[in-house]
Amino acid sequence: MAWQAIDRTTPVIDEKAPPVLSEAVREKIRAFFPRYETKRAALLPALHIVQETLGHVGYQAMKEIAEVLEIPPSQVMDTMSFYTHFWDHPKGVKVVVACRSLSCSLLGSDAVLQAVKDELGIEEHHTTPDGTYSLLTEECLAACDHGPCLLINEKLHKCVKPEQVAKLLKDAKNDQIAFPRSELFSKVAAKPVDPVDLPKTSDVKEMQDA
Ligand code: FES
Repeated sequence: MAWQAIDRTTPVIDEKAPPVLSEAVREKIRAFFPRYETKRAALLPALHIVQETLGHVGYQAMKEIAEVLEIPPSQVMDTMSFYTHFWDHPKGVKVVVACRSLSCSLLGSDAVLQAVKDELGIEEHHTTPDGTYSLLTEECLAACDHGPCLLINEKLHKCVKPEQVAKLLKDAKNDQIAFPRSELFSKVAAKPVDPVDLPKTSDVKEMQDA
């Protein structure tokens, strides 16, 4: 008997659905074009912009990003699905990422992860019913000497103990970083970069080769 293949990955897009990217969002993406030699190269900034605006990058948004960048939608999906940072379905306001790599594991990350699950009442890849938290695990968060580590949105928490988890998750400021975010995403729409000031990719390569 032949195995039955079930296609769970082919996106289904409602062709009559209204656009999800506003003109302001499209313009913000286009503002990155002068930085690169091709429009396609602005794909990662585009994904960041759309996720920051909509909370996730659904199939309809992928299709519209592809239109702006003049590339096939499959290329958008290929790139997006490589990074766990990007979500194709709605996520919680805060995403808790527990490190599952060796150093953190030796220092007790399993117990910390279990404490997070117990406190939130959800499993990995799930979101709390109130939409506040989603939970993920990822490989090394680059702070191995301070494990176990938890990332809450962009804020890294080091040396976390299971008994600290409940208080940490109740802290309203647990995702707030103490330094300003990159101006790439906060100022690019208001003040497009003058392409004259930016080296082209080929110039950078020449500088690296020199
Ligand atoms: S192993 Fe956890 S931060 Fe590197």
